[in-house]
Amino acid sequence: MRIVLVGPPGAGKGTQAAFLAKNLSIPHISTGDLFRANISQGTELGKQAKAFMDAGNLVPDEVTIGMAKDRMAQSDAENGFLLDGFPRNVSQAEALDVALKADDVKLDAVLDLEVPEDEVVKRIAGRRICRKDSSHVFHVTYSKPKTEGVCDVCGGELYQREDDSEDTVRKRLEVYHTQTEPIIDYYRTQGLVVTISALGKVDEVTKRAMDALKGDK
Ligand code: AP5
Ligand code: ZN
Repeated sequence: MRIVLVGPPGAGKGTQAAFLAKNLSIPHISTGDLFRANISQGTELGKQAKAFMDAGNLVPDEVTIGMAKDRMAQSDAENGFLLDGFPRNVSQAEALDVALKADDVKLDAVLDLEVPEDEVVKRIAGRRICRKDSSHVFHVTYSKPKTEGVCDVCGGELYQREDDSEDTVRKRLEVYHTQTEPIIDYYRTQGLVVTISALGKVDEVTKRAMDALKGDK
């Protein structure tokens, strides 16, 4: 399956993507995680992305589209993928369509996670992520690690993301509404959008998402 996951910052995209990708045996491709890995490795791409991310803005398309396409071209993504955080504006969605068409394949669904803004703010305020791998995600109340400050998966140190400060979150939400939400209409015209509520326990949301994807296909 080829799926795009969309939803506001803190909706639980990364959390759900980990389970859905496992259930569906497809790779989880997160542009946010790819950028953070580049930043921690000190690559040129990471240096280009950092200032935009810290300010809560989108990294320019010239950088992002090439990185996402390179990742999708890897062999594990040949038969499907779960995209998390890409596309994030209409021009990225158009570029993705062109790339998929060139490979003669299509998206199966766009899973839209709906969460009220006050819940998003709570989820982001308590989020802690792993220094070694930013896809290892915890929450100080909702998803506590066994040992405070230590990643259950790899033992790495947990920390709060630089872009999770109150001001930057406000900016990210604004960017989501103005630049990312229009892709939902873009995909709606293609009949691909499946909207679910992302409220409730993590496993309840995963079940809802799996049911919705099965119903759709
Ligand atoms: P990115 O990393 O994609 O951030 P985001 O979209 O803002 O999403 P988040 O990672 O904040 O949230 P999430 O929905 O994954 O939630 P999570 O599962 O962690 O992007 C960061 C930046 O990179 C962007 O601002 C931009 O600068 C740049 N970027 C990335 N892609 C780009 C692109 N395509 N183009 C341009 N720029 C790009 O969950 C949040 C918290 O809630 C966690 O603590 C979790 O434990 C908890 N939680 C999850 N589910 C539940 C639940 N059901 N109940 C209770 N708690 C829950
Ligand atoms: Zn870890």
